[in-house]
Amino acid sequence: MAIATQSIDPSLDLFDEIERLKTERNAVILAHYYQEPDIQDVADFVGDSLGLARQAAATDADIIVFAGVHFMAETAKILNPSRTVLIPDMEAGCSLADSCPAGAFRKFKAAHPDHIVITYINSSAAVKAETDIICTSTNAEAIVRQIPAGQPIIFAPDKNLGAYLNKVTGRKMLLWDGTCIVHEMFSERKLVQLKTVNPDSPVLAHPECEEAILRHADFVGSTSGIIKAAREMPNEQFIVVTESGILHAMEKACPGKRFIPAPPTNQCACNECPHMKRNTLEKIYLCLRNGTPELVMEESLRLAALRPIEKMLAMSKSIPSLPVK
Ligand code: 13P
Ligand code: SF4
Repeated sequence: MAIATQSIDPSLDLFDEIERLKTERNAVILAHYYQEPDIQDVADFVGDSLGLARQAAATDADIIVFAGVHFMAETAKILNPSRTVLIPDMEAGCSLADSCPAGAFRKFKAAHPDHIVITYINSSAAVKAETDIICTSTNAEAIVRQIPAGQPIIFAPDKNLGAYLNKVTGRKMLLWDGTCIVHEMFSERKLVQLKTVNPDSPVLAHPECEEAILRHADFVGSTSGIIKAAREMPNEQFIVVTESGILHAMEKACPGKRFIPAPPTNQCACNECPHMKRNTLEKIYLCLRNGTPELVMEESLRLAALRPIEKMLAMSKSIPSLPVK
């Protein structure tokens, strides 16, 4: 049955109902920083891709409700197969993951047999299965730096993150041509204007942004890195160049500080990820109530995708996750 046709009693308090169902079903809600504020508030853990993967691996709850996108729920299932993983909207995809179909990636890899493959976690399980080491934006630089200097590397699927890593590490990784629809929409011209009228507001940017944006940034880092930078820098106001859902987590983490979202190239809300924003409080309630949609995965694929994720976790043990919530 399509979610839109499922009725929810309008007198229900969804916050109370979600709490009740979590206890009744022994479920946890994991939410990414790009989720809408209400979802972040009902979640047990809110974090970046690395923090959420660690939480998914460690939880002993029977049910994981993953309020994020499909590749994140897949990662949770890969790491913790005995748990039921629910995703509030099975259509919540990711433009980066979609930019790298497994068949085409296999051919690309076969054309460069001397390269090892580092893949951003924003990729399908099938692409992970073709990978040597997974990374997230929090541990990517540390992982690349652990690869011996003479070893050629393929980096996929985000060419902007790959170019940023090449710049900071001096490597010449071969890049897959993928981008995030949200992070490629920021306007350099409008960002420069904003900086000019707010000279005391440092620019905090995610490395999925284009180089033309990153060259104006005072700090480049993952979502948790951006939150940490805002907390630690003495400034009272910041310009934030990433998906706007993070502003809620930043305001909670940094009381009294102010955050200006960087403008996209046009007038629409293009700094909102349409995939992340498919999840709603109503869909969280329905998936807890109904126990669907469930993410299932063939065991041979899971095992093949697990190997490079475990490698990532082992290679980034010394990198802490932000305290969650
Ligand atoms: P991080 O939260 O790991 O920085 O990832 C950002 C992102 O684009 C998730 O889709
Ligand atoms: Fe994918 Fe970009 Fe959305 Fe993250 S913000 S889920 S990278 S499309």
